[in-house]
Amino acid sequence: MTRARINGIEMAYDDVGKGQPVVLLHGFPFNRTMWRAQVEALQDAYRLVTPDLRGHGETQVVETATMDEMAEDVAALLDELKIERAIVGGLSMGGYVTLAFYQKFPERVRALILADTRPQDDTDEAQATREQQALKALLEGMEPVADGLLPKVISEETFEEQPELVARLRRMMHGTDARGSAAALRGMAARKDQTALLRKIDVPTLVIVGSRDAITPPEVSHEMQSEIRGSRLEVMDGAGHVSNLERPAEFNRALQQFLDGLQN
Ligand code: MLT
Repeated sequence: MTRARINGIEMAYDDVGKGQPVVLLHGFPFNRTMWRAQVEALQDAYRLVTPDLRGHGETQVVETATMDEMAEDVAALLDELKIERAIVGGLSMGGYVTLAFYQKFPERVRALILADTRPQDDTDEAQATREQQALKALLEGMEPVADGLLPKVISEETFEEQPELVARLRRMMHGTDARGSAAALRGMAARKDQTALLRKIDVPTLVIVGSRDAITPPEVSHEMQSEIRGSRLEVMDGAGHVSNLERPAEFNRALQQFLDGLQN
């Protein structure tokens, strides 16, 4: 793990491997270690940059964490690493940040990976739920919030068949700072609708989704893919919302094929 002071905060990140830079942004309330299997699989051919987004993992907790602020943090990290252009991808909240990054810095994006995410903003109801969760995290800590989220995040199949992954996810979620989580929840609630951006995307794009994703269901990914010119959709059979963790071999195969295809 390395640290850099960017945008006035201490950011933790891993920067592993050599080759075309690939930036992978984690979901909520996770951290950069969720990409471990992808980093291991790809590091011989690619340079993988995996930051802890503000308020998560080992990155400093700050009062606000909008998707735009997180996207600016990523741009500042790329400046620090002297990376002008990268393949940028994210899962769920990481996908919201990826879209915000593309909107702000399209010239810095070589290709996009949008995993288990959506372009739409929150409904009023979703915003209200996020505020309740933020207050719960601040008043009661992360455990009740994480324990409520866990069954929604993975498929029933994963829950039954992969107890070690369930335990790892629980530890990761419990370890997230409650103030960092509250800031991210409020940041997600305030995010813009990016549906109109999809038609403007003119870089190769891979959309990935778990077939049992209950938070950003496959229909949402189908629709998103149909709006992005020339994009490809890969469905991870039996996976829920954290498809890269639930089906690492299939996810890595899809990712590797997409990345290798960019070399031609
Ligand atoms: C995530 O995995 O990042 C969250 O489920 C995203 C969300 O709550 O919208």
